[in-house]
Amino acid sequence: MRISASFSLSLSVSAGRRALTKARLRQDLLSWTSKYRRSQLKDMLFPPFGWSQSLTAPLGHGSRVGRIRVRRFAGPAAYAGAMEPIRIAHLTDQHVGRITPFAIQRQAVALTNAERPDLVVITGDFVCHSQSYLDQLTELVRAFRAPVIGVLGNHDHWAGADEVAAALRRGGVEVLRNDSTIITIRRQRLQIVGLDDAYTGHARIDKAVAGLRRDLPVLALSHIAEEADDLWKCGIPLVLAGHTHGGQITVARLNDIALGKIGGHKYVHGLYGTRQPHRGAVVTGAVYVGAGIGASVMPFRIGEHGKREITIFEFGRRPGEFEEPGREQEPLSGRALSARKMRRRAEKVIRRRTRRSLRQTVEMDSV
Ligand SMILES: [Fe+2]
Repeated sequence: MRISASFSLSLSVSAGRRALTKARLRQDLLSWTSKYRRSQLKDMLFPPFGWSQSLTAPLGHGSRVGRIRVRRFAGPAAYAGAMEPIRIAHLTDQHVGRITPFAIQRQAVALTNAERPDLVVITGDFVCHSQSYLDQLTELVRAFRAPVIGVLGNHDHWAGADEVAAALRRGGVEVLRNDSTIITIRRQRLQIVGLDDAYTGHARIDKAVAGLRRDLPVLALSHIAEEADDLWKCGIPLVLAGHTHGGQITVARLNDIALGKIGGHKYVHGLYGTRQPHRGAVVTGAVYVGAGIGASVMPFRIGEHGKREITIFEFGRRPGEFEEPGREQEPLSGRALSARKMRRRAEKVIRRRTRRSLRQTVEMDSV
């Protein structure tokens, strides 16, 4: 009798929990429906500004192009007080192309310029699936007022890494492909390490950090955040990354489930690890995963973590010195990639390159 009573009690508790979860999910979806659905559909069907508008045209205002948020964090604690503050703006995953209205791209540049950064860094996926919008990409990156340093992402490799890098360089961007550079800002030198894309198997950390100076502050850029684990071991306390778009649909923690549990990512969105100098045997550091500006397939961005964003890092200022929009999170469990999966990703890049050169040959023959 007692067993059956406790059994029915546990049944009713678990049923209650299920009902609560369902209610929360329903509430999240309903709030999204009422807040965003109509304007998202409008944006998709009637993009607020066309490609024909140049970067010098006045910026649109109002809610439809006003959805990029600016987040602000301090840099690594080791550099606080050791250098005059340097402001670094981080953008990622612009995906210049058909899916993301150019007005949003222009607004991201204008918002970045308004922050008056000393340096702009961009962590890959500049294009979507083709080379059709490289001129617009060049036009866009040329509009940043600060020096720009960037690394490539998987979409750039699928579309043609050399061509995307050339378009960026025409726009004044220093593209780092497993390389590092030193930039001087107000007589202070800062090292930037740039990894090529790890998703498609092009990242070479040993090459990227060769010649790194221990006496200068350093920041690393990588499209894939999980590379941070090895970059920290090279004495780099902060890595900026992208790729995940924050999950894009982030209600009811769908982003953590999709990217963490299914996708095997340890870092999905925001700040992870610690900006304090590591002590003891385990080498740690911090990594920031930006939610990005654009999209390559699905135009929707729903929920707090999915919002388009620009992130400002104040190097030379101490964590805790000002209020930050997010805390340092613990990584998810993650999953190592199999050799088979890595091979298939590398093959995809080669397949697309071959298809592109075949198409160019056919086009040349038909002229
Ligand atoms: Fe992306």
